[in-house]
Amino acid sequence: MKFLRLFLLLFVISTQAQQGGMWVPSLLKGMNEAEMKSLGMKISASDIYDANKPGIKDAVPHFNGGCTAEMISPKGLLLTNHHCGYSQIQSHSSVENDYLEQGFWAMSLEEELPNPGVDVTFVIKIEDVTTQVLAGTENLTTEAEKQKKIENNISILSRDFPKEKWQGAKIKNFFDGNQYLLFVTETFDDVRLVGAPPTSIGKFGSDTDNWVWPRHTGDFSLFRVYADKNNRPAKYSKDNIPYTPKHFLPIAIDGFKKDDFTMVVGYPGRTQEYLPAVAIEQILNDLNPAKIEVRDAALKVVDGFMRKDQAIKIQYASKYASIANYYKKWIGESKGLKKSNAVAVKKAEEKEFLQKVKKAKKQAEYGNILSDFDKTYAEIAPYALSRDYFTEVFLRNIGLTETAFKVYQLERILADKGEQSFNDRKQNLMDGMGAFYKNFNKTVDEKVFEQLIAIYSTQSPKQFVPASLQNINASELSKSVYANTKLGSYEGLKELLTGDSKTVLAKMKNDPAVALVKAAADKYFAEVAPKFEELDLKNIATQRTYMKALLEMNPKARIFPDANSTLRVTYGKVQGYEPADAVYYEPVTYLEGVMEKYVPGDYEFDVPAKLIDLYNMKDYGPYAENGKLPINFIATNHTTGGNSGSPAIDARGNLIGLNFDRVWEGTMSDIYYDPAICRNIMVDIRYVLFIIDKYANAKHLINEMKIVKAKK
Ligand code: ARG
Ligand code: GLU
Repeated sequence: MKFLRLFLLLFVISTQAQQGGMWVPSLLKGMNEAEMKSLGMKISASDIYDANKPGIKDAVPHFNGGCTAEMISPKGLLLTNHHCGYSQIQSHSSVENDYLEQGFWAMSLEEELPNPGVDVTFVIKIEDVTTQVLAGTENLTTEAEKQKKIENNISILSRDFPKEKWQGAKIKNFFDGNQYLLFVTETFDDVRLVGAPPTSIGKFGSDTDNWVWPRHTGDFSLFRVYADKNNRPAKYSKDNIPYTPKHFLPIAIDGFKKDDFTMVVGYPGRTQEYLPAVAIEQILNDLNPAKIEVRDAALKVVDGFMRKDQAIKIQYASKYASIANYYKKWIGESKGLKKSNAVAVKKAEEKEFLQKVKKAKKQAEYGNILSDFDKTYAEIAPYALSRDYFTEVFLRNIGLTETAFKVYQLERILADKGEQSFNDRKQNLMDGMGAFYKNFNKTVDEKVFEQLIAIYSTQSPKQFVPASLQNINASELSKSVYANTKLGSYEGLKELLTGDSKTVLAKMKNDPAVALVKAAADKYFAEVAPKFEELDLKNIATQRTYMKALLEMNPKARIFPDANSTLRVTYGKVQGYEPADAVYYEPVTYLEGVMEKYVPGDYEFDVPAKLIDLYNMKDYGPYAENGKLPINFIATNHTTGGNSGSPAIDARGNLIGLNFDRVWEGTMSDIYYDPAICRNIMVDIRYVLFIIDKYANAKHLINEMKIVKAKK
């Protein structure tokens, strides 16, 4: 019976397996074009990427290294997420002009706000340089020699590759080191803020709704790219002019239906789709539960304080959001891995793999890969777990230990690099920690410490916990540490750091927080980190061979490379899903849903009065469908972190939405993509235009864009 279920499951998966995948734009023609057309695409692969003519790739830059954005006008107008532009919006805000709270709209070019340090990077051309990168490595025997040669080849190649002087070249490793692609790029540094809705629209639902469908968030912001007089990249200057992109996306506002083709183009950060079953089991049974346990305890404490105290809420909002983001993701990921039987599916695939290896008579080369994985993952288990506990407890969730760790590092810097480096770093800490202490509350932090140190003491692998942290009374320990440390305030930190290295080291010795972190960290760096790194390198090398074998044993399968922050295309259909037995989620949400969630005055679910007015008058302009205003929608596109801000594009190459999240049940798609429950979440472009037009009265921006009828 169980076997039959698994069989059926595998069958369903293999028949739907055409969906999922993050594909390299320059390889779409051979790999994906036929399938994309069979799913409904009307343009061709060369309209997306062609080294010799403008196309969609020229409209989709990497936004500041972490997000994606798209050009939506011939005058350099750029669209990305509100959460991608968040710190820029924040940086221009003051108590009198709080653009997070009220929104911001430049009514002319003069009012647009420069953002030093922010850049956007376009891909001009992609070339396979595998042969050149691997040249001369064939006869090298050790892994270290090989890597050194590869690095050397990469730096020479990227320096000498023919390109214009305002362009860059970057080589990236694909398929765990089995393929190398070179990207010629253009980076623009003058990027100005044009518009942002208030947080009550751009971050509506906040942490409660994060990673959740049904969703109702207007997660967008607008920038403008500026260039010099020759339309080339230039540092900020008031003489710069709006950039004329090689291509910008036309916008379709007459809607789409369930099952319509969509694609998402962008810069996904990191996935691990080809892990062996044993690695997934480790994530599922050891690592995710440990990280979730620590963050759960920390978040509960902080939430308790935030709910009672407005000042603490402001201090901790950003920290809380960033801790909560991956906490919630890991819970969803584990649930999804279980629900989709990822481990069983991988095990079945591995069995099949071994048979293929045998049939191809490649046992000598590939026969031991899986048993090597089994061995190394078993060996690395206590080190990996210890590493996660150490990192989560001391370096991510407790302000005091994060600071104590930075101070502790001074001792190592002195030993490794000498007095000058010690003094430089010390000065750095003295100057730089002000921002940290602004959002530090000693009482909150002490309570977090009390919870987390108890978890570390009892849950982290015993053999790597220093004697001083075994059998502790967490409440007494935290009281005495927080009562006697100097690091509870900025003044205290500066006091501790005053003096020459000998004096400072002596004071460090007497500080209970530094001493405590030192005990844990010394043990970690002596007994955990080196062994972890050694075994991890082994796994990386085995993974490279495994990838090579998978490609070789499955010549007809279309295998995509794991995400690595390079430009990719994913495609699929607009589709709802069943998150649980007897529950079905529709793929589109409407403004009605915003009003259903509305909680007046709430920091997550408040709705601006103007939006309520527009809703009451049903004043939706041309952006409604059957009298309702669409807000968000989902599809089967395979996305991950970094795809925030990516354009959702229809069958004809028009912009229909803006990617910003995934559904909770499908967040395991970084490890295992299941077309039944993995969905990406997008803002409907009609909601974006409605907010710009009707809410903000920024019609001049709409007039820059090219609005089209998709159905013609
Ligand atoms: N979960 C989305 C992404 O990883 C959005 C995060 C920002 N939004 C928030 N409510 N914290 O990263
Ligand atoms: N919010 C994510 C980002 O910032 C995208 C969501 C995801 O991980 O799919 O890139």
